[in-house]
Amino acid sequence: MLGMVNHALQEMVVERYGEETWAAICADAGVSEPVFVIMRAYPDQMTFDLAAAVARRLDITLPEALHAFGHFWMVYAERQPWGKVMHSMGATVREMLPALDALHARIALTFPGVNMPQFRTETLLGGGMRVEYISTRSGLAPFVHGVLEGLGAMYGEAIEVTQVESRESGAEHDVFLVEFPGEAAPL
Ligand code: HEM
Repeated sequence: MLGMVNHALQEMVVERYGEETWAAICADAGVSEPVFVIMRAYPDQMTFDLAAAVARRLDITLPEALHAFGHFWMVYAERQPWGKVMHSMGATVREMLPALDALHARIALTFPGVNMPQFRTETLLGGGMRVEYISTRSGLAPFVHGVLEGLGAMYGEAIEVTQVESRESGAEHDVFLVEFPGEAAPL
């Protein structure tokens, strides 16, 4: 994955637990990079090893670590020009979700060779949105769960996210239900 992803994980850990904890995590993961080049592609395994080492150091599960990282991914995005691109593509979570592929496609123009996920969205009769997450990578559903919640925080919206189908349990894709309890119920 792009160095940007490892760099975001590094910022999350350093800001919350300090440089020493990050150094220990890198040692645990067998990673000796002093810095990650944002635009360079690193092996996916490095990102997975780092995330697993974060979980071990903080004494949480890997899904919990990925979920926390998903939340932070939006904090990180907000600090970059990409955050502005994102706001320009959707003024609310409801507008942004169907634009996720367009957003990633735009990012991929800047970073050729990246392997972006895909999302299929559908508005349900009850007003919620069904978000299908399609990826060549596995194990990242907790990350997506966290990013979707982080998106709500980024837009200042109280949304509720529930995973309703899981690849781990045999479904074709991971599927999330995003609900908007703050909105008036549809007629
Ligand atoms: C400004 C905001 C965003 C930026 C800059 C961004 C950028 C990226 C980048 C650079 C990658 C790595 C691809 C690679 O190196 O191969 C990635 C992957 C990913 N992004 Fe985004 N993204 C953003 C928003 C989102 C949002 C809102 C979601 C919502 C769920 C999301 C879900 C994912 C997932 C799940 C992956 C992992 C790749 C995979 O599943 O195969 N991203 N994104």
